[in-house]
Amino acid sequence: MLHLKLKRKLPYRPTERMNVVSYPIRDIVMEAKREEAKGKQMIYLNIGDPPLYGFRPFGAIAERVKRALDENCQGYAPSEGDEQLRAAVAQIEKCSPDDVFIVAGLTEGIDFFFHAFIGFGEKVLLPNPAYPLYLSKAKQFEGDTVFYRHDGDGQIDVANLAKKIEGAKAMVIINPNNPLGAVYSEKNLSDVVHLCAEYDVPIFYDGSYDQLVFEGKPVDFRKIARRKVPFIYGSSLSKCFNYPGARLGWVAFHGDKWEEVKNAFFLLCNQRLSVNWEYQKAASAAITDPSYPAYLADIKGKLLERRNAFIRITRKMPLTYPVPNGAFYAFIKIESKKWKKDLEFVRAALHQGVVFVPGSGFGRQEDGVYFRTTFLPEPDVIEAAFSRIGKIL
Ligand SMILES: Cc1ncc(COP(=O)(O)O)c(C=O)c1O
Repeated sequence: MLHLKLKRKLPYRPTERMNVVSYPIRDIVMEAKREEAKGKQMIYLNIGDPPLYGFRPFGAIAERVKRALDENCQGYAPSEGDEQLRAAVAQIEKCSPDDVFIVAGLTEGIDFFFHAFIGFGEKVLLPNPAYPLYLSKAKQFEGDTVFYRHDGDGQIDVANLAKKIEGAKAMVIINPNNPLGAVYSEKNLSDVVHLCAEYDVPIFYDGSYDQLVFEGKPVDFRKIARRKVPFIYGSSLSKCFNYPGARLGWVAFHGDKWEEVKNAFFLLCNQRLSVNWEYQKAASAAITDPSYPAYLADIKGKLLERRNAFIRITRKMPLTYPVPNGAFYAFIKIESKKWKKDLEFVRAALHQGVVFVPGSGFGRQEDGVYFRTTFLPEPDVIEAAFSRIGKIL
């Protein structure tokens, strides 16, 4: 009895499973809010959320959502996705609508991929650095993460990959890469595809930023990989359409080996019932709208301007990074000897009123101290932020 009473007084505790759940891009915000509560004005450069920095979402989306509210989509949508949207995505992907699944942001697609395909101890090749969700999901599903490297130009180091690829269950490619902003060349991707084909390693291709290449030639990975290696192509409305709040993404299976994995995706989709139907209608409208190329050109022009301003502002500081040619991030190495640990630096930056993400959140960085910033804000905001941290470098 006494034992029971004592037990009741203890606070409830989350499960052990939670020990591996993390998302460093937002986890740092809790600390930032504490600083803000003390009266400090913070500049948030931790998250790639375009509308937060004045990038307007593609107009066709909101227009179509409003119309959809008056249509008959109050019930659950089909679990695997709205028929019309699956057909529209299939047109882009050049696959069958049966190969397409609609997900609540690519986030859910990544979760489903690990859940359905990566088992205990199975090797998954991730880029280093990698978008943190991949690290967390690999841990949650008990996969064995093996990192592959980039060369000095931000391209996939194929020789390094060749040493690690044997026995891998899957390889993840993020292009343009978050956090590097690197855009892989056709040759680089083609070399990787050949290697994966040789070792029968399928690819999960994260195309979240695939339209956002503002310098150099954009590549269509599907053309490079089709009929050479099985792959899954994922994207969403979040970045290329500037509408992360829509929580709308898709994955498309390519190649003829996926039947059982697609069945697993069906089960996972069924389990969570469906994705918001109005935004699915809106996604169909958005991805087929003829005014999208003009909208995209405008967005890319702005990103290029902001990237250039970012380079100008940081040029004289003890900071180095591969020049980002896509997406809207830079992965920065601190060249001053002052900082030994990225978290200490990020905390010191917080005290100066600037929020970054520590490099370790993107995987272990052995050769130095790194952090990630976005360059989405107006140049005067970037200037203010970097002049604040100039004091602590
Ligand atoms: C590389 C990458 N993949 C996936 C996502 C998830 O995007 P969403 O769930 O908004 O589609 C993000 C978000 O920042 C990302 O950067």
